Formats: sequence, structure tokens, C-alpha cells
Amino acid sequence: MTRECPYQPARGYTSLGADRASRVRLYDGTTAWFVHEHADVRALLTDPRVSADRTSPGYPQFAPRVELAHRPVRVFMFMDEPAHRDQRTRLTARFTVRFVASRRPHVERLVSTVLDRFAATGPEADLVSGYALPIASGMLSDLIGVPAEDVDRFHGWLRTLASPSPTAEAGIELVAYCEDLVHAKVSRPAGDTDLPSALARHLATGELGEQDVLAMCMLLLFAGHEATSNMISLGVYTLLRHPDQLARVRDGEVPLPTAVEELLRYLSVVDAIQRVAAADIHLGDVTIRRGDGIILPLSAANRDPGVFEDPETFDVARHPRRHVTFGYGPHQCLGQNLARLTLHTAIGALFDRLPDLRVETPTTPLAVNPANGVQGFTSLPVRWS
Ligand code: HEM
Repeated sequence: MTRECPYQPARGYTSLGADRASRVRLYDGTTAWFVHEHADVRALLTDPRVSADRTSPGYPQFAPRVELAHRPVRVFMFMDEPAHRDQRTRLTARFTVRFVASRRPHVERLVSTVLDRFAATGPEADLVSGYALPIASGMLSDLIGVPAEDVDRFHGWLRTLASPSPTAEAGIELVAYCEDLVHAKVSRPAGDTDLPSALARHLATGELGEQDVLAMCMLLLFAGHEATSNMISLGVYTLLRHPDQLARVRDGEVPLPTAVEELLRYLSVVDAIQRVAAADIHLGDVTIRRGDGIILPLSAANRDPGVFEDPETFDVARHPRRHVTFGYGPHQCLGQNLARLTLHTAIGALFDRLPDLRVETPTTPLAVNPANGVQGFTSLPVRWS
């Protein structure tokens, strides 16, 4: 379902809200269960009878799948236990609060470089292509160790893949590039500086193969890029549209990280996640049958009035600790600490440097992402003096 406003869940969700589970029809005529209450979403995301395997026939698709590589890369986000845990645990050390905090100087340098370039193009520019996308792809190129001379090409592929018309060519080139990069890094690891180098010791012991490392890198790129870039641009837009709330952050009444947590809840840029039942599950008076698709709208769970008081209000001081924007359970976002660091740095630095930033009064409706992807803008014209 399409959002009428980029920061509000689709209005159609309201009509589905009466029952704990409703049957919905998807674009291809198949049906799936729509389960929207916060408690049910969390329960299903931790239920071992619920599978993340998207190759399962009942897995609900929001749009036709476009293969962006010659060979499909199997990533652990779509695996169940124990295979999922086996792979994920190899990465957790690089995503802890402590490890991510040690990357702060890199993220600050990246944001400052992108901001210098962005500010120099003013007094009007596109916040998506000029700021949000280069920060997201810079954060990821740092993570997987893309050498400086390749960074522009790397950004170009990610930008094409995040555009409204991604091409298979960009996907194929990116996978081929990462294949060579991973091979070079694991053959001659550069200490512990980047992720493929750090994983090289698992190849030495035979616990992982080069294809596993490639799949992990591809997953990080696809999971991290669009979610982060859209959170930056939609986050900035939402603050500009709520000047009273922005003022509370600027005046120091509310710390920026607290406000970002509310932005995460309110915007729910990953609007919904998909699962498939691996066994019969009783939910209230319905039975979700083995093989049935399940849709879990995080945006609706994040507006559950039983969990969040006055959920439709954007309140930067809320402390919405139980939001499910990063999912929940075993597949909960691995990159959330890095995402938070990047958002705090990017949003804070932008408002510090360009205090009178505003959205350019649009003559046409703002260009928003399609309903089936990460929510946000394809471009966002802004202006400052
Ligand atoms: C604001 C930014 C982000 C949001 C809103 C977000 C959201 C999510 C959500 C909802 C999931 C769960 C998917 C599911 O259960 O099916 C997820 C998983 C994941 N995310 Fe993020 N993400 C963000 C940024 C990142 C970043 C920066 C990275 C890494 C660089 C990342 C890496 C991952 C990975 C690897 C998974 C799969 C975890 C697993 O299956 O065990 N994400 N993310």
C-alpha cells in the first residue's frame, strides 16, 4: 500500500486494524496474513515456527523480484536457524556499541567531507543525491574497505541501485567488483581494518568460504544503504515540517539521539517485513496455516496505542524504547548501532552548518519511493542562504 504522506503509514492500514490478523491480496493475486499489533509482531518475529526463507513458495512478495546478479547470492537475512546464527555471529563483533563507537572519527570525517561539498553547491541542492546517498555509501565503503580510487565507481553503482530505475548492469558490476575486492582482501588481509580482512581468519580455518564473505558484504550493502540514506533525508524533512520539535533539539532541551529514536519510530522507513509460516499457528480466532505468507507492518506496530501514548504525535522527547523499526528477534538489524551513529552525525552536522535550511517550495509533488521499497524520497530539493 502506498503512503499518502511520506512519514505516515498508508491510510489503508486503518481499515485492516480491526482484526488481529486479516487476509490481504498482493499484487500477484496471492494472499497473506496482515498482523499489525505490536505484541503479535514481536511474538511472530521470535517464533521458531515462522520462517524468513524467501525461497519458500508462500513467502509474500510485494513486487516481482528483479535479480541483480548473474547468480543469486544467498544471504543470512533470509535463512533460518541454525544456518542464520552460524553466519551472523561471525559479524557481531564489528557491530557492537563499543566497536561502532571506535568508528566515530571515521564517520565524522566522512560527514564533514560530504557536507563541505554539499554546502559548496548551494544555496539550493538535492538533499538525497548531494548528502544522504553519499553518506550512506561512504559509511559502507569504509566498512568493506573500498580503496579511495574506487569509491566514486562504488557510489555510482549504489546510487543506480537505489534509484527508481535500478539496472541489472549496475548490480552485476557491483557484485563482480565486490567479488574481486573480497578475493584481494582475504588473500592479503589488511589487519583488522575492514570486514573482509577481519573475516580472513575464518577462511584459513575453513569455517567460511570466499562466497560466504561475498554474500555477507552484499547483504550489508543492500540492508544498510537505502535504509540509512532514506532515514537521513526523510528525518531532516520531518524535522523541518515540525519546527516546534526541531526547536526543542536546537535549544538543547532534547538531545539529538533522543529525537532520532523518535524519528526512527515515527518514520518506520522499512514499512513492513515478510515471513512465511513453517507450521500452523493460532492467533486469536484465526489459524495461520503452514506455508501461508505473513506481513508484519512495523509502521503500524510503531503506532500501536497500547504501547505508545498518543502514537500519531511526533514528540522528540518521547523515548520510544520499544519501537520495532529495526525489527525484533534473531533477525533484528545487525547494523543498528552504526545506523544510529551515522544518523546522529549526519543530521546534527547538517543543522549546525546550515541553520536556515528549508524545503524548497515544490511546484510538483515531492518524488517519493515506490510502496514496495524503503520509504523516503527519490529527491528532496532544499535551500539555505
Ligand atoms: C536506519 C537504518 C536502518 C534500518 C531502519 C534498518 C532496518 C532493518 C530491519 C527492519 C531489519 C530486519 C529485517 C527482518 O527481520 O526481516 C534489518 C536487518 C538487517 N540490517 Fe538493518 N536497518 C538499517 C541500517 C542498517 C545498516 C547501516 C546495516 C549495516 C551496515 C544494516 C544491516 C542489516 C543486516 C545485516 C540485517 C539482517 C540481520 C539478520 O537477518 O540477522 N542495517 N534492518
